[in-house]
Amino acid sequence: MAEASLWYKDAVFYELYVRAFCDSNGDGHGDLRGVSRRLDYLAELGVDCIWLLPTYPSPLVDDGYDISGHYGIHPDYGTLDDFKELVRAAHERGLRVITDLVLNHTSDQHPWFQASRRRQEPYTDYYVWSDSDHRYREARIIFIDTQPSNWTWDSLRGQYYWHRFYGEQPDLNYDNPAVQDEMLRVMRFWLDLGLDGFRADAVPYLYESEGTNCENLPETHAYLKRVRAVIAEEYPQAILLAEANQWPEDVRPYFGGNPRDPSVPGDEFHMSFHFPVMPRLFMALGREDREPIVEILRRTPPLPFNSQWCTFLRNHDELTLEMVTEEERHWMWNYYAREPRMRLNLGIRRRLAPLVDGDRCRLELLYSLLFTLIGSPTIYYGDEIGMGDNIWLPDRNGVRTPMQWDAGHNAGFSDAPPDRLYSPLIADSDFGYERVNVAAQRADPYSLWHTIANMVRMRKTHRALGWGACEILPVTNSAVLAIVRTHGAEVVLAVHNLSSQPQPTLLDLRPWHGLRIEALFAQREFPGSLGDKPCALTLQPYEYFWLQMVPT
Ligand code: NOJ
Repeated sequence: MAEASLWYKDAVFYELYVRAFCDSNGDGHGDLRGVSRRLDYLAELGVDCIWLLPTYPSPLVDDGYDISGHYGIHPDYGTLDDFKELVRAAHERGLRVITDLVLNHTSDQHPWFQASRRRQEPYTDYYVWSDSDHRYREARIIFIDTQPSNWTWDSLRGQYYWHRFYGEQPDLNYDNPAVQDEMLRVMRFWLDLGLDGFRADAVPYLYESEGTNCENLPETHAYLKRVRAVIAEEYPQAILLAEANQWPEDVRPYFGGNPRDPSVPGDEFHMSFHFPVMPRLFMALGREDREPIVEILRRTPPLPFNSQWCTFLRNHDELTLEMVTEEERHWMWNYYAREPRMRLNLGIRRRLAPLVDGDRCRLELLYSLLFTLIGSPTIYYGDEIGMGDNIWLPDRNGVRTPMQWDAGHNAGFSDAPPDRLYSPLIADSDFGYERVNVAAQRADPYSLWHTIANMVRMRKTHRALGWGACEILPVTNSAVLAIVRTHGAEVVLAVHNLSSQPQPTLLDLRPWHGLRIEALFAQREFPGSLGDKPCALTLQPYEYFWLQMVPT
């Protein structure tokens, strides 16, 4: 398999909420033309692939994840031509573009659902209808703060319909072959415009089956393999990235291939988010103990050689605590979300920087973990400058506020009068746009932005960070996490002190005896070459460094 087609294995992704990024026409909403204008910024940051949150027509009950038309663009965002131009301009700069493919459900305003309510062919069975709301009782409710049931009564049709998310998001019926084909048509339409793939939303829930929790069913995998086959055959450069918020052993089947033999190519998703590792990065930092991370890595199965995890610190949703134990969840809430308003469903609605009180050392440490552990990292827009949040906005809107470009009018996001903006700007004294913005950080060579851009560059020049095997170096001090990434002759060692206190540590680097040390990221001096004794040092609070072992 040509390595070029495995580009995602060492890519850095950038998750971008179009409404928040840049408003090109002064209506107070970010749009596709605005994103096009800011592509040079993304190229300079060095990311490889932009993930655009949904821009389809939608009544926006779930901010665009409730799609009411699959072949268009929401008027707030522009036109299909703007979308094509954005993809073209991104490609010109060597950037790829993926967007959300929402397979599981549509909006209740979608013409298919409206026709289905009236039992109009061919849409009668496009959704999951039932006379009883007692079916599939073992399926959990995901939006527990607002949804009393996964069934909602429709008086026009005189039946209940099934939905895993908001009542305004009826689930499509994948038992119906017409639905299966319909969604393949949607996929082809966007890939034909030059798109580089999809982040496939909520994939565990496509099928339902009595007596199960209606997640990860064999029928779901069979359909997803069909989707991959179309990609492999017709769009071999495109990727499919799964959103499956599940335990590692339940996510593994989403890659396909042979679980016992990583040399057999994956035939389902190219990538999948590693959800369980995310809260454990925060847990390890808060507890000053590497164990949560080590434990979940131990539980993470190997992947087919052509597959890759996608990792992240924060995204557009709440910091989900579905993949931790009950006790860990309460620990996380107590530690990171003291104020009840910070909690949402089974998670925490906060951005990265406020989670660590804007502390630069902890921010860098978390990024260092993200960039040196398994997987391809995703940066959530604004987190590269340490943007803040607004927990008083409804739902997850508080982590979706306008990008802070500069200290000027509307943070450089829009020319509209401030009261026309889709969302208030972050304006508090710690994270407000006058203090935290792109212009200020680009002008300061020591800013967080420059550190992140450096980390992105390191990934480009050190394949071990994307492709390499990932091992944890045994170190007695449990506040220290030493990660070894190896790819062929390339060895990168990343050492982290998770503690707020200085930590003595003994690193056994004898396996690399005789090799030269090259510091990639380090605030301290190292001897030029490795001796035959363990290396004793005291790590400063939250210190991290990256070393490369180079043959002499
Ligand atoms: C996952 C998305 O990330 C989230 O924003 C959305 O609400 C649900 N899927 C439903 O589409």
